[in-house]
Amino acid sequence: MKEKIDEIKKNALNEIENTSDLKELDNVRVKYLGKKGELTAILKMMGTLPKEERPSFGSLVNKAKEEVQSKIAEKEDQYKTEEINKKLESERIDVTLPASKIKKGSKHPLNRVIEEIEDLFVSMGYDVMEGPELETDEYNFERLNLPKGHPARDMQDSFYITTEHLLRTQTSAVQARTLMGNKEKGPIREIVPGKTYRREDDATHSHQFNQVEALVVDKDISFADLKGTLEIFMKHMLGENTQLRFRPSYFPFTEPSYEVDVSCFKCGGKGCNLCKRTGWIELLGAGIVHPNVLKMNGYDPDIYSGFAFGTGLDRLAMFKYGITDIRLLYENDVRFLSQFDRMDK
Ligand code: DAH
Repeated sequence: MKEKIDEIKKNALNEIENTSDLKELDNVRVKYLGKKGELTAILKMMGTLPKEERPSFGSLVNKAKEEVQSKIAEKEDQYKTEEINKKLESERIDVTLPASKIKKGSKHPLNRVIEEIEDLFVSMGYDVMEGPELETDEYNFERLNLPKGHPARDMQDSFYITTEHLLRTQTSAVQARTLMGNKEKGPIREIVPGKTYRREDDATHSHQFNQVEALVVDKDISFADLKGTLEIFMKHMLGENTQLRFRPSYFPFTEPSYEVDVSCFKCGGKGCNLCKRTGWIELLGAGIVHPNVLKMNGYDPDIYSGFAFGTGLDRLAMFKYGITDIRLLYENDVRFLSQFDRMDK
């Protein structure tokens, strides 16, 4: 009997040693120590033995069981430790690896120009105003001294939605809104950056483009104020050496009206391909607010006067950053847009 117990024990220990994971180990445990296990079964045979042999038999079987149990426990520990180590290994983070690149957006050149202009004019006490892009004929034209049928309307090919509504062709529309909306009929100092729309589309014109408008109305506003303000504006945007040239022009909402050129900042006025060898670049429309505009919008032209100007932001951004095709500004090509971050560094 003793040999039998020893043999079972030896087999059990052997099988335990040959397992390779917790599952196999459990199978061996069931095989020897389970309800129908071999060591359990042999213990049941005790009843068949003569009384005096039972205690020593019992203790032999129990010893064998204990040995097998402790071997199982030992192996179990080993497998659990191995499992934890494997998990730790698989979760290991290599802190010395280079970090993955974070792609950062960059400011659009138009927004750069708009923000620069806003900062400058806010520092001079101006308000930054907005108006609707879907505008009425009344504000886009009529209240700016351009009645229906006025020939000057032909200068701006318009997108009409109804006979009375259009996509605004100029931020000047907001001039009339501000004048009308000012209940006290007091002084005004505003700039209006925003989108405008016309039916044109080529390398230098886009059907949607951006303008910034300025309107100053107060007592005793004169051409000197307009000139001084434009000088500050253009020198700030294009460099201290920038010269201005005022050419007489016509806009229905100003009298007198001017087209304002700036000296070419590429060649300094000597003449190059950018300024088409003239030394000058046409950049703004400007003038002294027409008395009709003041009157039509509730201001007394005998008390108040004002100046206004409007310029294309796209053109300004193109000159400032050397962009040759206006459409690039609206294509949202990341390779194009990300260049301006580097330029400002
Ligand atoms: N609104 C004009 C345009 O889009 C530009 C302009 C000219 C604005 C003269 C003005 C101004 O405020 O006084 O062509």
